[in-house]
Formats: sequence, structure tokens, C-alpha cells
Amino acid sequence: MNSVVSYRRVGRVGVITVDYPPVNAVGLAVRAGLVAALAQGVEDADAAVLLLVAAGRTFMAGADIREFGKPHQPPILPEVIAAFDACPKTIVASIHGTALGGGLEIAMACHYRVALRSAKLGMPEVKLGLMPGSGGTQRLPRLIGPTRALDMILSGDPVSAAQALADGLIDAVDDGEAALAVGLRVAERACAEDWPAHPTSGRTDRITGIDPALFTAQRTALDKRAPHLFSPQRCVDAVEAAVTLPFAEGVARERALFLACMESPQRAGLIHAFFAEREVAKVPGLPANTPKRDVRTVAVIGAGTMGGGIAMCFANAGFPVRLLDTGAGALDRGVQAIGRIYEASAQKGKLTAEQVDARMALIHPTLSYDDLCDADLVIEAAFENMEVKRRIFAELDRVCKAGAILATNTSTLDINAIADATRRPQDVVGMHFFSPANVMKLLENVRGERTAEDVVATVMDLARRIGKVGVLVGVCYGFVGNRILHQRGREVMTLVDEGATPEQADRVLTAFGFPLGHFAMTDLAGVDVGWRIREQRRASGDPEAQAVNWLDRLAEQGRFGQKTGAGVYRYEPGSRNPLPDPAVEALIAEDRAQRGLTPRPVSDDEIRDRCLYAMVNEAAKILEEGIAARPVDIDAIWLHGYGFPAHRGGLLFWADQVGLPVIAKAIEGYHTTLGGAHWALSPLLRRLADEGRGFCDL
Ligand code: COA
Repeated sequence: MNSVVSYRRVGRVGVITVDYPPVNAVGLAVRAGLVAALAQGVEDADAAVLLLVAAGRTFMAGADIREFGKPHQPPILPEVIAAFDACPKTIVASIHGTALGGGLEIAMACHYRVALRSAKLGMPEVKLGLMPGSGGTQRLPRLIGPTRALDMILSGDPVSAAQALADGLIDAVDDGEAALAVGLRVAERACAEDWPAHPTSGRTDRITGIDPALFTAQRTALDKRAPHLFSPQRCVDAVEAAVTLPFAEGVARERALFLACMESPQRAGLIHAFFAEREVAKVPGLPANTPKRDVRTVAVIGAGTMGGGIAMCFANAGFPVRLLDTGAGALDRGVQAIGRIYEASAQKGKLTAEQVDARMALIHPTLSYDDLCDADLVIEAAFENMEVKRRIFAELDRVCKAGAILATNTSTLDINAIADATRRPQDVVGMHFFSPANVMKLLENVRGERTAEDVVATVMDLARRIGKVGVLVGVCYGFVGNRILHQRGREVMTLVDEGATPEQADRVLTAFGFPLGHFAMTDLAGVDVGWRIREQRRASGDPEAQAVNWLDRLAEQGRFGQKTGAGVYRYEPGSRNPLPDPAVEALIAEDRAQRGLTPRPVSDDEIRDRCLYAMVNEAAKILEEGIAARPVDIDAIWLHGYGFPAHRGGLLFWADQVGLPVIAKAIEGYHTTLGGAHWALSPLLRRLADEGRGFCDL
């Protein structure tokens, strides 16, 4: 017996308990412990029935992800499952929390499954570039049919206990509170009524009557929905095997497919992305027990798209929100826009009418700053202009209670200068949301020079409470995400100057795995957004301001992107599908001619390398400057704010896979041939490449 799986008897029930915090992941110790405890239960003459439960917050939440990519250590999970299969005694599994992946596979190998009503069951492997590999793809279709099995396995999303019962995945749902008590009750009944251990054949019967078109349709749908991903297609292959092959052969086929997924670089990338999301919450130098300020009420300044979206984030999480705008018309329009977004969610079945009402009731519009006196957190999302923001912060300083956190959603301005407008710079912080704020998961929390530690700890914790991925960054123009985006934008514009078309550049980026190309994204965000920023910089005489370019000319023509039906692309009425526009081609050609540029054919590889290496170089400079603390912070920012393809792990994880010497050499080449300070190789990148190390070694 080992310390993480125990065996004891309660009456005639032999209880096997897994206790491996935090989530009872099925690592080596758990697997070995399960086999040993099961053997003990089988040998225990006084145990008529066995019960499998887990201690702590959840049933087993799948294989131990930290073991992936390392050599397999026996007993491997299929061997554990084989031991359950061979068990002559009836085994009841009692499920609470989440039974996921390998945890659910073990539960499926038990003979009877009961779950607490709050429990969830799922097969999330596909989200990690994997597939169920211990019989899950063979047992699940036999329990719930191949169509539902494919739904669960391909989405990776868990189902509720009620749904699992309706599907036939479990045998009962219980309203009890403790899995152990519920399990004991069921197991005692199993003893009393002499429930048999299901004969193995009952779970391994051939599935008949399935139309093979089901699998063809799934493959075609995946080609469209997830063209870059390796493991979803393997999931379809495995479930098809459950239908076409005898059980044992299906299991063997599944194993081969599973191992192919395990070897895939996509698995490594997706697992890096999984841990990145969790790692960023742990801020270096900020102990987990740093005190936090109590935030119960929130105020948002500015009822535009951004302010409205931010207000929704907090209302969605149950916070009362005061939404302030100084114009009555703007305030009304803002509240109405929020209402329309909620209504649209209700129409799609994502919210009930009651939920819409409850959320709207949490949003209290106001025209008066005096109404913000009791807010614990104020987030300013007003016009992007330093004077405007400084006036607002001076006003906040006047009205807000002591200890209130004063946050700005600025995406470009110096937070330290904003903080100077108050007498409490320690309370001022950046909370940079991404549009649409109610949808995008990224939140860049920006620490100013004088921001207090408890303020930082509080905004990082708030990110989690409102369901965002919060990443702490320092102050610089564009912070981390947009500063890197700016480099990609600059490079892609240069590539168009040289002869690439916007469609070609976008095609290269979507082929890499971005959901949208750079120009399609510009159209979505609004061509006017960048134009206004560039205009302001030019007007203020900023030496780094860019010269007027063809994008600015588009904006001057009112081509603001999707919202005006035309931008870099044109859009059919009601469609978001970008269509190349000869008028834009002509504009670009004219722009090149005016600047004396002769277009040349630009290869797809050159576009990809220049766009991405420019980003990597900038990211390395950001690390050198300490604006981001770790490579993983930059990876998470680009994964959650800019659609960096998760199967590539993240920008810097990907760079490590390419190899830093390759990237450094290419950048030096660009510096020589193309010139420009932005192509000066980051000393950090130089050093890592020379030392044969990667960003992962920092
Ligand atoms: N293996 C190893 N570690 C795991 C893990 C797993 N399968 N699942 C979660 N963890 C770790 C997390 O990394 C985190 O560690 P940390 O505290 O050091 O950051 C900790 O367990 C808690 O996880 P977290 O996601 O923060 O908790 P949660 O309560 O929000 O969610 C789960 C719990 C189980 C729903 C969620 O962790 C999850 O979905 N895990 C992955 C499950 C999975 O994919 N299993 C199949 C593997 S093939």
C-alpha cells in the first residue's frame, strides 16, 4: 500500500480511496496504489463489494499531465484498467467534482457508477493534443453510442451528472453531499441485493447499426473547424474502430493512435499552453499569501464598447457595477448595447431570461462622479488621451474612498504619469482588457512604479474571479501584447510595400494557425483605431510616429473595416467573410509608385519568418527590460489575447522549437539587408542562442 491510495473495510464494503491533491491526477503513485488496493480488496474475504472514491475536491481529474513526454513507468493506465476488468467482485465508483480523462476511464471500468449532482464528467484529452488512450474511446461509444461519444471526445467539454445519466454514462445521480457516504449507501445496497460484477462481454459487445457516414461527416467538419490539429482526427479513427472492430482489437488500435498523438509536437505545445495559463497567476516575488484588498463593488468610467464590455465582465461574475459616462446619450447607448449583447446570448441559449435580468440589474448607470464614493475598484475606460485621463484620475482622487483601487484600461499611455495626477499613486494600476472585453480571456495587469503590492495581488486575484487569464506586466508603450503586435504590424506592412498582398500575408498567418490574419484582424478591430493613434502621435510631433501609409488613406476614406462594410477587405452585407478588393490593391500600387518602390514576389516562408521573428526579437527585448517577468507570461498573453495557435505552445515556446540559433541568424541577416533598429538582435536572444539554451531555460 502506498500513501496516496488506501484500502479499508466499512462493513462488507472494501473502500479504495485515492488521495493525491490537488486533483487526484492518475500519476505513477496513484496507478501503483490502485493496483495494490484492488488486489487487497479482492483478497479481503470480508469485502463483498468494492467502492472506489477520491478524497479532496474532486474525483480523479485524468492522467498526470506532468508525466507526459517522459518514459512510461509501469503500471501504465491500461494495466490498471485491465486489473479492474479482471476483478471478480462488483466495484462501485462514486464520483464528485470532475471525473476526467483517465479518471473517467477508470470509472468506466467499474461496474456501477453513481455521481453527485454537482459532478462533471468529461474526456478533455483533445484539448491537450491527445485522445483517450486506455479504452475510453472503446467503452464510451458502447455506453452512450458513437454520436454522443464523439461529441464528448471531440469537444473535450465535460457533461453534467444529469446529462451523463440521461446518456447512460452513469447509473445514478445522488443529491447527497459526500461521495463517500453516497458510495457506501450504494455499495451496501449492492451487497444486500447481490449485484453482479457485469460480465466483461456486456461492456465489450459489438456496436451495430451505425451508418459509416457519421465518421466521414465528422472528418469533413474537422477539416474545416480544426484544420491544423492532429489529435481530433485520431479520435474519430478510434471511435470508428469501436464500431468496426472487436473490443480487444479496438483497444489495440486506440493505443497506437494515442501513442502517435503523444509523440506529436502539438501535444507538447498544448500542454505548455495548459500550464502557462496556470503559471502566470504565480507572480515571481509576490508571495501567494500577500494580503489583498476587499473588492465587492466596482465602477467603470466610460460607457463605450470597452467600458461596457468591462462592466459586463464584472456583472457576469456577480459584482454590482456603477457605469459612469458624462454624457446622458452615451450612457443610454452604452446600457442599451449591453442589453443587446445579453439578449443575443439569451437567444443563442447561453443565458436564461432570469440571468439576463439579474446581470442587467447589477449595472447601475450614473452621470455623477460622486456616486463612485463607495466603489472598491474603479476602472477608467475613457478616451485614450493623457489629459482626459489625468483629469479623470484627479476627480477620482477627490471622490473615491481611501483604499479604493484606481485602475486605467489605457493601452498606450504611461500609467506612472496618470498616477501622478492623484495623491495616491500606490493605489493606481493598469487593467488592460482586450476587445471585446466580455469575451477575450486576457487581462494585462500593469504594475506602475509605485503600485502597492496588495493592489497587484488584488487585481491578479480579480482576474481569476472574473474568469480571465491575468498576466502582470510593466509600463512601456503598448505594454507586452500590443508592443509585440506593433512589430508584426510594422513588418507585415513592409512586406506589402515589397510586393506581398494583404491576402497573401493573412493566408500565411492563418496557415500558421492564427484564427485571423493581420489585416482581417485590423478590419475587425477597426482601421480607424490605429489611424487615430498614429494621427495623435504625428500631431504631437512624436519622433517615432510613422509616416502616413495606405492604411491611413483607407481610414480617411471611411473604410474602417467590418463595421463599415469595407476596410482592407470588402464585406458583403451581413457577412464577416473578408473579400479582396481591387480598389485596395490599386491604392497599395499607387502608394508603392509614389514612394518609388518596385514590387517583387515575396515567398510565404519569408512572410512567416519575418513576421514571427520580429515578434520573437521584440519579446526578448521585453524580457531584458523586465516588462514581462518570464517567457511564459508572453506566451500566455499571445495565446489568450491574440489567438496565437495553442498547438504551438506560445510565441517563445515555438521559438525554442525552431531553435534560437536559427532565429538569431535570420534576424542578423534582416538587420543587414533591411536595416532598422527593430531588427537589431536582442542581446538576450544572442546570449541564449550562443549558449545553446532556449527561453524555457530562463
Ligand atoms: N495532471 C497534473 N496536474 C494537474 C492536472 C493533471 N491532470 N490537472 C490539474 N493539475 C494541476 C494544475 O496544474 C494546478 O496546479 P498548480 O496549483 O500548481 O497551478 C492544480 O492541479 C489545480 O488545477 P486548476 O486547473 O488550477 O484547478 P481547477 O479547480 O480550476 O480545475 C480541473 C480543476 C481538474 C477541472 C482542471 O485542472 C483541469 O481541467 N485539469 C486537466 C484535466 C485533464 O485534461 N485531464 C486529462 C489529462 S489527459
